[in-house]
Formats: sequence, C-alpha cells, structure tokens
Amino acid sequence: MRKKIVAGNWKMNNDMAETEMFLVQLKKQVIPEEVTLMIAPAFTNLNHAFQSVREHPVTVVAQNMHQSDKGAFTGEVSAAMLKSVGVETVILGHSERRSIFKEDNELLAEKVNTALVNNMTVIFCIGEELSQRETDDHFNVIAEQLEEGLFHLSEAQWNNIIIAYEPVWAIGTGETASPEQAQEMHAFIRKTIADAYSNSTAKNVSILYGGSVKPDNAKELFGQEDVDGGLVGGASLKVDSFMEIANSLQ
Ligand code: G3P
Repeated sequence: MRKKIVAGNWKMNNDMAETEMFLVQLKKQVIPEEVTLMIAPAFTNLNHAFQSVREHPVTVVAQNMHQSDKGAFTGEVSAAMLKSVGVETVILGHSERRSIFKEDNELLAEKVNTALVNNMTVIFCIGEELSQRETDDHFNVIAEQLEEGLFHLSEAQWNNIIIAYEPVWAIGTGETASPEQAQEMHAFIRKTIADAYSNSTAKNVSILYGGSVKPDNAKELFGQEDVDGGLVGGASLKVDSFMEIANSLQ
C-alpha cells in the first residue's frame, strides 16, 4: 500500500534558532496517523532536527547529497555522513538542483544509485518548464526524466523510491497546477512506470505533487486518485500552514 506523504522542503531557509522554534511547535501537534510527515532542513540543522523529533512520527530528510562516498569534493556531503546523523531519506533532482547547479539525469542516476546502495529512500523530483508545457512537450520531458534517472533500477529498488512531480512553472510562483493537470500527469507517471516495470510496482509508488501547495488548495489536489501527497516549499516553513496541508491529506 503506497504511503500518503507530506514533506516540507525548507530549501535555504530557517537557521538553527528558527529551526528550533519550528520543532518546538511541531512536537505539540497531533500528526494524522495515516500521513507520513517529513521535513527537510538545511544540512547544518539535520542532526539537531533528527535528535529533536526522534520520539515523534516525523521523518527528517536531506535536500541533496553527493554521488561519491568520500573525497575531495569541497562543500559536499555524502550518504554516509547523512546516515551518521540519522537521516535516511534524500531529495534528489529538485528543479533548482537541475537548473541552478546543472545536475542532469545522468548525474542524478548516479546519486540515486549511491543513495540506494546506502539503503536510503529517495524522493526523486521531476517536472517540466512552462515552455515545454506550452509546446505540448511536457509528457516527453517527464518520460525522459523517469527513463534516464530511474529506469535502470531493479523492480525491488523501487521500494525505496518516492516520486515528486513538480512543474517548474508552479514552484514558488503561486501558480499551482489545477487538480486536473496534476491528476493527468500523475496518472501518466504511474502508467509510464507500469509499462516499464509492472502494475504492482506502479501502484505501490507514492507520487507527490509539488508547486505552490497551500492550505487552500491542498485538499482538492490530494483528493485526486493518483496524488499521494505533497512536496511543499514556502508553506512548509510555518507549522500552522504545514499542518493544515498535512491534515488535508486524511
Ligand atoms: O520542493 C518543493 C518546492 O519546490 C515547492 O515550492 O514554495 O512552490 O511550495 P513551493
């Protein structure tokens, strides 16, 4: 049975004091049992966050990692370093990593392999640019990101994969995909996985929507058959809005 997940991608926000304030508030919340709640603080706050919520049903997630085990990669962190502070889930392929840091599907496939070899769970982000949707190329783009990033994996490895569909034109813009647009693409993603592997693998993978998820649109988005939750940016930085979104998934 695929998981219902609401994950907060904090990006480069919340220093230690702001992180601690968030965690103190979060631990007072009643988290719906059927929802897997995740938060992705900055690297500098991962250890503190993990220790702070370890008795609570909250998964602490890394926003990125390097594909190598160790070495002369100034500024990078490895899977082993993340696991050494208790973090076992990592976001890979976020559109900001692809566009700003030039991470392509080949590199991301390497990162996925390293994460899986280290028994981590991967939230793999895919999504089209506005121009690609406007030229009706968005399904090809998504299929290519899946094929080049993930379709080298074995069927068993898909147990550690979560997909996040994040149309780039909806990220940080307030221009949320309509529930119909989200459902159409999520169904296409699930069918593409089914065609490459099997119906059971496709049925069991959680596909999250990301891109201007807010308390006032979450319920309708999450009510779509193939939307299994959300990867939330701005609205995840405050406990109130984050919990409103999580409660929309029940
Ligand atoms: O990874 C989630 C993020 O890209 C979405 O950001 O601010 O549009 O919710 P936002």
